[in-house]
Amino acid sequence: MALVKMKPLLEAAEKENRAVGAFSVGNMEMVMGAVRAAEETNTPIILQIAEKRLLSSPLELMAPMMVSAAQRAKVDIAVHLDHGLTIECVKAALSFGFTSVMMDCSLLPLEGNIEKTKEVAALAAETGATVEAELGVVGGNEGDTAEHKILCTDPAAASRFIRETGIDALAVAIGNAHGNYPVLPELRFDILEEIDRVTDVPLVLHGGTGITDDMFRRAISLGIRKINIATASFDALAKAAKAYGGGVDTPDYFALSAACAEAVYENVKRHILVFNNR
Ligand code: 13P
Repeated sequence: MALVKMKPLLEAAEKENRAVGAFSVGNMEMVMGAVRAAEETNTPIILQIAEKRLLSSPLELMAPMMVSAAQRAKVDIAVHLDHGLTIECVKAALSFGFTSVMMDCSLLPLEGNIEKTKEVAALAAETGATVEAELGVVGGNEGDTAEHKILCTDPAAASRFIRETGIDALAVAIGNAHGNYPVLPELRFDILEEIDRVTDVPLVLHGGTGITDDMFRRAISLGIRKINIATASFDALAKAAKAYGGGVDTPDYFALSAACAEAVYENVKRHILVFNNR
């Protein structure tokens, strides 16, 4: 098993009516926890990091670790740039061997989003990397304090967007948002169903933290093939570190590291089992 492109993982998920978990990572413990969960469940996953997160987890350090973990894993793993904000970052991720990239131009008008996404698709084509793009606006903001107001994806525009950009996967906005939801979101499954009807690429659900298992299953039944989980893993690690610190008189780095990896492993495994939809 190996480092693979994201596209075939999503195509296999389509055939088996399941979704692939895309787990955000920010340090070694997160990478180790996620890979262990994937190996134990014998399930391919995606390891990803968003450009904003590179402020605390530099690409030069994270990328070799993510790529190496994927290459050595007992299951197939794709390594993905989540919410790229600049062409420079997309280029850097590709040069480190990322097998998939997303540049988030969702705040641009449709024409601008199409133009920038085409630029990314041309770059990705040089290495054969998979391309994900977002249309509509997912709420919150991955790795930033700014809150984006949700704007649901227009199915007709989605069809045009995919045709003109040639992307491999489309991130939809159906009432989902990044971060912890203040109240359970009301996902617009009617819009998702229509997007799935008029498009032919795998669909991506961002803002997975806090979405219920039943909602995940319904989304999968309507064409969602990649589900992003970030906050739940970051929170699980932070809580484990806090619990560890409060539980011992003499803190030990190695025990702390193991507790952090374990917490991420538990969270990733829980989600993998739901996404496998068996
Ligand atoms: P959450 O932080 O809500 O899990 O969202 C993750 C995500 O969509 C990353 O792009």
